[in-house]
Amino acid sequence: MAVAVALVPRISSLLHWIAFLTLVLNLSFSVAVKHDNFKTCDQSGFCKRNRAFADAVAASSPPYLYQISPESATFANGQFQATVSKTIADGAIVQLPLNVTFLKSSLARVELDEERRRTGDIELRHGSEARKERYNESPAWALVGGLDVDVSAKLSEKGKKGVTTIQFGENQRFTAIIRHAPFSIDFQRDGDTQVMFNHRGFLNIEHWRQKVEKEESVEESVEKAAEKPGAEDESTWWEESFGGNTDTKPKGPESIALDISFPGFENVFGIPEHTGPLSLRQTRGGSQDDFTDPYRLYNSDVFEYELNSPMTLYGAIPFMQAHKKDSSVGVLWLNAAETWIDITKKKRSGRKLDTDTHWISESGILDVFIFLGPKPQDLTKALAVLTGNTQLPQQFSVGYHQCRWNYMSDEEVKEVDAKFDKHGIPYDVIWLDLEYTDDRKYFTWDMDKFQNPVAMHAQLDVTHRKVVTLIDPHIKNTANYPVVDELKKRDLTIKNKDGDTYEGWCWPGSSHWIDCFNPTARAWWTTLFKPDFWKYSTYNTYIWNDMNEPSVFNGPETTMPKDNLHHGNWEHRDVHNINGMTFVNATYHALLDRQPKKPHRPFTLTRSFYAGSQRLGAMWTGDNLAEWGHLEASLPMILSLNIAGFPNSGADVGGFFGTPSSELLTRWMQAGAFYPFFRAHAHIDTRRREPYVAGPPYTGIMTQAIRLRYQLLPVWYTAFHEASMDNSPILRPQYYVHPDDEAGFSMDDQFYVGSTGLLVKPVTKEGATSADVYFADDEVYYDYFDYTIYSKKGFKTVDAPLNKIPVFARGGHVIPRKDRPRRSSHLMQYDPITLMVVLDKAGNAEGSLYVDDGETFDYESGAQIFAKFVFDKESSSLTSQDIATTGSMTKSYRQEMSKVRVEKVIVIGAPSHWTDKKHITAEQDSKKFEAEMQFHPASGNKAAWAVVRDPGVSIAKDWKISFA
Ligand code: GLC
Repeated sequence: MAVAVALVPRISSLLHWIAFLTLVLNLSFSVAVKHDNFKTCDQSGFCKRNRAFADAVAASSPPYLYQISPESATFANGQFQATVSKTIADGAIVQLPLNVTFLKSSLARVELDEERRRTGDIELRHGSEARKERYNESPAWALVGGLDVDVSAKLSEKGKKGVTTIQFGENQRFTAIIRHAPFSIDFQRDGDTQVMFNHRGFLNIEHWRQKVEKEESVEESVEKAAEKPGAEDESTWWEESFGGNTDTKPKGPESIALDISFPGFENVFGIPEHTGPLSLRQTRGGSQDDFTDPYRLYNSDVFEYELNSPMTLYGAIPFMQAHKKDSSVGVLWLNAAETWIDITKKKRSGRKLDTDTHWISESGILDVFIFLGPKPQDLTKALAVLTGNTQLPQQFSVGYHQCRWNYMSDEEVKEVDAKFDKHGIPYDVIWLDLEYTDDRKYFTWDMDKFQNPVAMHAQLDVTHRKVVTLIDPHIKNTANYPVVDELKKRDLTIKNKDGDTYEGWCWPGSSHWIDCFNPTARAWWTTLFKPDFWKYSTYNTYIWNDMNEPSVFNGPETTMPKDNLHHGNWEHRDVHNINGMTFVNATYHALLDRQPKKPHRPFTLTRSFYAGSQRLGAMWTGDNLAEWGHLEASLPMILSLNIAGFPNSGADVGGFFGTPSSELLTRWMQAGAFYPFFRAHAHIDTRRREPYVAGPPYTGIMTQAIRLRYQLLPVWYTAFHEASMDNSPILRPQYYVHPDDEAGFSMDDQFYVGSTGLLVKPVTKEGATSADVYFADDEVYYDYFDYTIYSKKGFKTVDAPLNKIPVFARGGHVIPRKDRPRRSSHLMQYDPITLMVVLDKAGNAEGSLYVDDGETFDYESGAQIFAKFVFDKESSSLTSQDIATTGSMTKSYRQEMSKVRVEKVIVIGAPSHWTDKKHITAEQDSKKFEAEMQFHPASGNKAAWAVVRDPGVSIAKDWKISFA
C-alpha cells in the first residue's frame, strides 16, 4: 500500500505552529548550549550520592562494606564465582552474585548483580509494570563475540589466605588477584599491576529497599544527612524532578559505582562522545584547565554544544584506554544507563602519575571487561572481537556528501547537481533533510516541492550519485497517516510509565516513538522501506537516522522520561544509551532487505550511538557551530571515536549553525577531506555555501581539497577494508602509531590515515599561513605534494598558505591513488591506478590496495582484490601480490578487473644511481614489458623522484617491476 500524499498547507495545525516556534526561538535567541537544560552531577541524584560516598570513604576509611563470603567462592572452567556481601545498617547483609570470567579473547570480565532484584524479590511502587531485575541485556546489543571462556585459566598456587590468584591469557602472562575482604581485584601483566578495581573503596551497589514513608520533607532529609556523618542522602531515592519533569523511580535507588585505577598511567583516552582533548582531563581537584564535573554519558540532543566540556553529547561508548610507554590497557563498562566518570590523577610514592577513575551508572548490573594490552593495537583488536568491526561501506559513501537543511525541491536538487558538474567538483551524494516530507511525515514526499522525484533520481543516476533522506524515530501523531495508524494498531510504540503509548514533541509536533527493542517493530519497519510502500524512494535512496537519542523537545533534558517503558518492560532509564543504536539497527536491516535477491550494502548515518554501532554505518558529531574552535575540536572528537571503536565518523563541514567565512569553510573542507565520513551540512537559516558559491580563490581551493579526497579514494577504501577486518582506526593519533614516543601521547591535532603513513595536520587557525608539525621519529617524511624532505625528529614549522594542506608521506609506504578527476566515485571504478612508492631511509616500502565492486556483498564470495605491494631495495624491484580471500566469484571478478591497469609508479626518494636509467622491465602472467622511466634529481631540500609510465600491468594479477 502506498502512503497517500496529502497536499496540506505548509503550517497546517496549531501543533505544527508550536513546533515551528520552538525551532525558531531556539535558533534566534541561543548562541550557546543551554546549560540549564542538562543536569550537572550535583543535579543528578545518583551521581551526587556516589561522589559524596566516595568523599566519605576517602576521608574516613570506614569499615569495609563489601567482602566475598569465603564459603561462596569457587573456581572452575575459567570462571571464578562468589557472593559479595554488602553489610548495611544493623549488620544486615545484601547478597551480590559475582562472576569473574576469563576469556579466550584474553580479556577478563567482572559481573556483579543483586540477588534480590535478580530473583524478583522486590516491590515496585506506583503499580509499575517495569521489570524487577537489573538490566542485563546490553551484551545482546553491543557484543558479537569474544565470550568463549578460557578454560586453561588456572588458580595460582601462590595465593595467600583471603586472596584468589588466577592466571590467564596467552602464555598465562595475565594475573587477576582477587582480594576477599575488602573486596578488590588487581589485574597484572607479567607481574606488573595495570588495572585496579575498588582500590579506593568506592564500590557502591545501591541495593533495593522498601520505601519507608516519612513525614520529613526533601529539604529536611538533606539536612539530616548532612548533620549525621555516614548517613545516606535519601532525598533523591524515590523521586527526582528536573526542568518541570518528575521521574517516579518505581524501583528506588539502583546505582552502581566502582573506582578503577591505572597505576603509572598519565594519559587516558576514549569514552566518546565529548568535546575536549583526546587525553582526558581531570574532573575533580585538578588545575584551572581541568573540569569540575565528571564526564557524562547520557545520549542527548545537545545542539550548539560547547567546546572543551565533559557534558554529554549524542552518543556513548563506555570504553577507556590508558596508555604509557610499553603499555596500553583498558576497560569496557558495559552499561546502557546514564553514566558519569570522574577522573583524577595522583602521584603516589615510587610511581609516575596514577590515573584514578570513578564510574557511576544509574541502574543495571555491573559488567566490565578488562583489556591488558600491551599495545594499543591489541586493545583495538580485542574490542573488535567483542563489539564487531566497522561495516564495509559502499564506495560511494567514502566520497564527498553535499547536505543542507534543506534542498527545497527536486528542481533545486537538480540545479545543485548540475552546478557541481559545471565547476568540476566531484561529489557522490546529495542529502534531503526534513523538508522533503509532507508535513514531517516520514515515508511521504511534499509533492508541492518535489513534484517529480522520478526525474530527479534519473538525473542523479546518470553519474551514479545517490540520495540520502532523513527518517527519524518520532512518528507524527496525526490523522490520515497510515504509518502512525499502523504503529499504534500493532502496538509497537514506546510506552509511558503507565503502559500507554508515549506522546511527546519533536519536529512534527505531537509524536509517538517506534520501539526498536521490539523484534516485531523491527520487522514492520522493514516493510516501510520497500519502494512499493514508500513511493519515489529508489534502491539508491539511503537513510539518515537523526534525533535517535531520542530527542524529545518537551522531555526531561530534551529526551524521554526515564520511567517510560520499552519492549520487555525495561525502563527507559536502563536502556537509554542503547536506544539510538536499536533504531539504526532496524533501518540497517530494512535496507538490507530491500533487494533480497542481490542485497546492496546499506548506508545509514546516525547521530546517536553506542559500542557496536560501527557495525551499522557512519556517525557524525551533530549540531556544531561555524566557528574556528569547532573545526579544531572536530579532530580530537573524531580521533576519540576512532580509537574507541567507531572509525566511520565525521563532523558537519562548515559548521551547522551560523555562516562560516570563506576562509573557515575552505579550511574546513581541507580538514573534512580527511574525515572518514566527509559531509558538508548547514542549518536552514544559514546562507548557501556549496563549494562553488564562495568564488575565487576559495572555490578553486575547495575543489582541490575534494579532488584530493577522490584521488586518495583507494587509500580510504583500503583503510575501510582494514577497519572492516579488525576495526582498526581509520584516523590514528600519534600515540597509536608511535606508542613509545611520550612527547606525542597527548597530541590530537594531527593524525595518520590508516596504515598508509600519510600524516595530516589540518590548519584550524584563522589567518594561519604555517603549521607546526610534529615528526615523531627519525624516519624520513616527504611533503605529499612537492616531496620536500623532513628527516629530523621533532617539531617543524611548515608553510601552509590557504591553498595548502599539510600532508606528509612517511618513508616506507606505497600509496595507491587514482589521478583522474571524475564527477563521482562510481565513474572512477575502472580508472587506472597510480602507485606512490615512498622509500624509507633504508630504501624499502610496503603498502596495500583493496578493491571490490563497492556495492554488494560479492566480496564475501571472493570478488575482491587485495594487493600487497613491496618495494625491496636489495632486488630493486616492486612486486604486487594478491592476498585476497578467494571464493567462487574470484575468477570472474579478476577477469572483469583485468582492465584496471597501473598507469604510473612514482618513486619518492629514488636512489641517485638511477640518474641515467631510462627504462624498467615489468612482468605479469609470464609476459614481459619495457616501460619508460624518468628520473628527477634531488634539488634543494626536495627529494629525487622517478616516474614510470604505463608499465603494462593490471591490478588483477601479481606482477613485478624491476628497476635494476
Ligand atoms: C537536527 C540535526 C541536523 C538536522 C536537523 C533537521 O538538528 O542534528 O543535522 O539538519 O535536525 O533535521
